[in-house]
Amino acid sequence: MAAINFFSLLFFSFVHTVFSASIAINRAGWTITSDSYQPGMEAAKAFDSDVASFWHSAYKPTLDPLPNVITIDMKSTYVVNGVSIQPRQDNSMNGNIGQHTIELSADGTNWGLFVANGRYVNDKTTKKTTFVARQARYVRITALTEAQSSANQWTSAAEINVYADVQYTSRSAWTVSADTAETTKAQNGPANAIDGSTATIWHTKYSGTIAPLPHWFQIDQSSLQTVSALSYLPRTDSANGRIGKYTVQASNDSTTWTQVSSGTWADDGNEKTAQFTTATVTARYFRLNALSEAGNRGQWSSASEINLVSLNSASFTAPPPSKGFWQNTVDFPIVPAAAAVLPNGKVLLWSAYLLDYYGGTNGYTQTAIYDPTTGVVTPRNVTNTAHDMFCPGISMTFDGKIVVTGGDDAAKTSIYDPVADAWIAGPNMKISRGYQSTATVSDGKVFNIGGSWSGGKGNKNGEIYNPTTKAWSLIQNALVSPMLTADAGGIYRADNHGWFFAWKNQTVLQAGPSKAMNWYETDGVGMTTGAGNRADDGDAMCGNAVMYDATAGKILSAGGASSYQTVDARSNAYLITIGQTLDFPAVVKAPSMAYARGFANGVALPDGTVFVTGGQSHVEPFTDTTAIYTPELYDPTTNTWTQLNPHAIPRTYHSVALLLQDGTVFTGGGGLCGNCATNHWDGEIFVPPYLLNLDGSRRTRPVINSVVSTATIGSTITVTTNGLLHKFALVRFGTATHTVNTDQRRIPLTALSVGTSYTITIPGDPGVALPGYWYLFAMDQAGTPSIAKIILLSP
Ligand SMILES: *[C@@H]1O[C@H](CO)[C@@H](O)[C@H](O)[C@H]1NC(C)=O
Ligand SMILES: *[C@@H]1O[C@H](CO)[C@@H](O)[C@H](O)[C@H]1NC(C)=O
Ligand SMILES: *[C@@H]1O[C@H](CO)[C@@H](O)[C@H](O)[C@H]1NC(C)=O
Repeated sequence: MAAINFFSLLFFSFVHTVFSASIAINRAGWTITSDSYQPGMEAAKAFDSDVASFWHSAYKPTLDPLPNVITIDMKSTYVVNGVSIQPRQDNSMNGNIGQHTIELSADGTNWGLFVANGRYVNDKTTKKTTFVARQARYVRITALTEAQSSANQWTSAAEINVYADVQYTSRSAWTVSADTAETTKAQNGPANAIDGSTATIWHTKYSGTIAPLPHWFQIDQSSLQTVSALSYLPRTDSANGRIGKYTVQASNDSTTWTQVSSGTWADDGNEKTAQFTTATVTARYFRLNALSEAGNRGQWSSASEINLVSLNSASFTAPPPSKGFWQNTVDFPIVPAAAAVLPNGKVLLWSAYLLDYYGGTNGYTQTAIYDPTTGVVTPRNVTNTAHDMFCPGISMTFDGKIVVTGGDDAAKTSIYDPVADAWIAGPNMKISRGYQSTATVSDGKVFNIGGSWSGGKGNKNGEIYNPTTKAWSLIQNALVSPMLTADAGGIYRADNHGWFFAWKNQTVLQAGPSKAMNWYETDGVGMTTGAGNRADDGDAMCGNAVMYDATAGKILSAGGASSYQTVDARSNAYLITIGQTLDFPAVVKAPSMAYARGFANGVALPDGTVFVTGGQSHVEPFTDTTAIYTPELYDPTTNTWTQLNPHAIPRTYHSVALLLQDGTVFTGGGGLCGNCATNHWDGEIFVPPYLLNLDGSRRTRPVINSVVSTATIGSTITVTTNGLLHKFALVRFGTATHTVNTDQRRIPLTALSVGTSYTITIPGDPGVALPGYWYLFAMDQAGTPSIAKIILLSP
C-alpha cells in the first residue's frame, strides 16, 4: 500500500525576499502509465514508495526497444519545478535512464512545455532535475538511451516524484500555544517559534518538574487555509529538544483532530518537513505532536521556527517574457566546472578526474560534449594526455584548438583538436600551475601567468606557448608580483584567475582581479608595465570582466571580492577603456549591480549588452547560501543594469556560462565537492529578451543566408540575408572556468548594403580581431539577432 514516506524539501537561501522551495507532491490518486512494461513491473511500481520494486520496460519474451515513455497524470494542476527519478536499487544497472527529455502538459495531449533534456550518470543515486516553475497537470519522461550502454534497450525506475513550487504561508494572523513552555526565560514561549528569529526558541519546561513527552505545539491560523506540509527548524544553539518521532493533526474547532502526517525526523539541525498524507489539507488549526526527542537526550522538545507550507499555485504568475526566459535544464553525467564552445556549435565540458570531485594528480579527466540543437550529451573519459584538467587555464588558438593547462596535474598541457575530435598531449609548462589564467595573444601564442593554487606557491611569472613549435618558453620580464591581490589566503590565492585581454602588438592588459592593472608585453623577454588602478575598486577576486566592444577597447568589470572566500562580495562595476597600448586605460565607475556577486559569470551578447549571471553575495566555495538567482544585463548605451528572470538552480563556485550559436546563453555546473549537497550536474539555457515578443512568443529572427566560413582579418566579406538588417556583430567563442573567460570578445561591425547583400570589413589588427572562431550575428531594427554563422578568422 502506498504510504507516502518519500519527500524532501529544499529551502534555497534567496537573498531577495521571495521564498522559494520545492516539495515532492503527494502522489495519492495519480495515474502513471508507460508505453511498455514487463508483466509484474508495471509503471505503478515507480509510484508505490517501495524502492525494492521498479518499473521495467518489456524485455521478454519480446524486447520493446527504446525510446520508452512514462506519463504521469497528477489529476489537478500544480506549479511544477522538478522531477526525480530513483534508479532501481538492486544490484543491476539494467535500464538506468541515460539520455532523456522531460515535458509538461496541461491536457496530456499537447506537449509544448519542454523543460529538460540531457543525460543522467549511470549510478544508484536519485536523479533530481530542477527547472523553472511552470503550471501543468501532466508530466512525460522519455528515456532515449540506457545509461550503461547505448546498445542496451531497457528502461527502469524504482520511484518517480514530481516537485511543486511551494512557499511558507503568512504567519501574521497566527496565534500559537503549547502544552508546556519553560517560564524562567521569556524567550522560551511558543511565540518564539514563529518570530522569524533563530536566536529565540520554544522550549518545553525543563526547570523544576520537567513536563515529560509527548508535547504539542498548536497553530491557530484564525481562518481556513489550504496547506501541504509543516516545516520544523530545530534550534541552532544546542541539540537538546530536537523532535524525533512526530505526528501532525488538523482541526477546524481545536477539539476534533484528524491526523495528517506522521514520521520520525533525523537527529540533525537541518530544517525538516512533515508532508501531509493528501496533497493539500484545508483547516484552521494544526498541531505538531512531539513523541520523542531525536537523540533520546531528555524529556524535552524545542523549536527554532515552525511554518506551514503551501503549494504555490493560486498565486502563480509566469515570469514576464520581457525579462527573458529560462527555457530548459540540461542534465549532465558530470558536474561541469570548465567549458568551451566548439566550431560545430557544441559545448565541451569537463569536471576533474571524478565526475563530481577533484583533487590529487590522477592523470585523467571526465568530459562531455553537449549538442544544444539535439540535447545529446556524449561523455568521454580523457586518459591519453595523462592530465587531470581540473582548475586549468583555457585558451582557444588561432586555428580553434583548445589549450588546457595545469590544474590538478599542474605541469601538463592538453590540447583539444575540434576537427579531429581528439585530445593531444602538449608539452609540460616551464612552471607548474593551477588557477592561472591564459590568453591567446596577437601573434597566436598563448600567454600564461599566475597559478599558485597548484604546483607550488609563488613566483609564477609568465611563460608562453608557441603552437607552431609546440613549446613553452619563459618570459623573463613578465612578472606576477604587480598583479597580486592582498588575499587573506596569501600567495596561494593572490595570483589566481587573472583578467587578461590580448591587445595590439603582443600585449595583454591585465584588468584584474587585483585593483592594480598591468600591461604585459609577451614578445621575447617581455615587459611588465603598471596600468593604473581600476578607479576606486578594491581587489575583485572571482569577479568578471567582459570585452563587449573590442574595436573601442571597452571592457565591463563587475563584482568580485577582496579575498577568495569567506568575505562579502561587491556589486561594483567599472568601464575600462583601452586607448594606446601601454597607456593607462580610462576607468569610469558604472552603476553598481543590484546584487553583490563573486563566482558569477559574464557573457558578451551580440547586441553589445553584457549578461552577468549566478554567483554569491558572500563568497564561500561549495555552498549555495547567498546564491544570486537573478541575472543582470548591462546596457552600455543607457549605462544601466536590468534584472532578468531568475534561474532555477544555484550557480556559484565552479559554475560556467557561455554564449551559444543561437544567441541563447548556457550556464551550468557549480559544486564539484564529492559527497556534498551543492553538486550541480546540470546546466540551464537562457533565452534573452531580444529573442522574445512581449507575449512570450518567439520573435521572427533575421536569417544570414550566406557568408564565407573563413576570412582573413582586415578583409571585406559579403553577407547575404533574408531582409534588410540593422546591425552586425562578431562575438568570439568563449572558454570558461572559475569566472574567467579570456577568449570571448565582441566586435560591432559596420555594414554597407546593396539590397540584402552586405559588405563588412573585419578589423585588421590581430590584437582586436583576435583570430580564432567567431560567431557572426545579424540583428534587425529591434535588435533581434539571427542564429550566428561561424567564421574562422585567420591572421
Ligand atoms: C475544515 O473545513 C473545511 C470547509 O468546510 C473542510 O473542507 C475541511 O475538510 C475541514 N478540515 C478539517 C480538518 O476538518
Ligand atoms: C577513467 O579512466 C581511468 C584510467 O583508465 C580509470 O581509472 C577511471 O576509472 C575511468 N573513470 C571512469 C568514470 O570511467
Ligand atoms: C604593432 O602592430 C601593428 C599591427 O599588427 C604593426 O603594424 C606595427 O608595426 C606594430 N608595432 C610595433 C612597434 O611592433
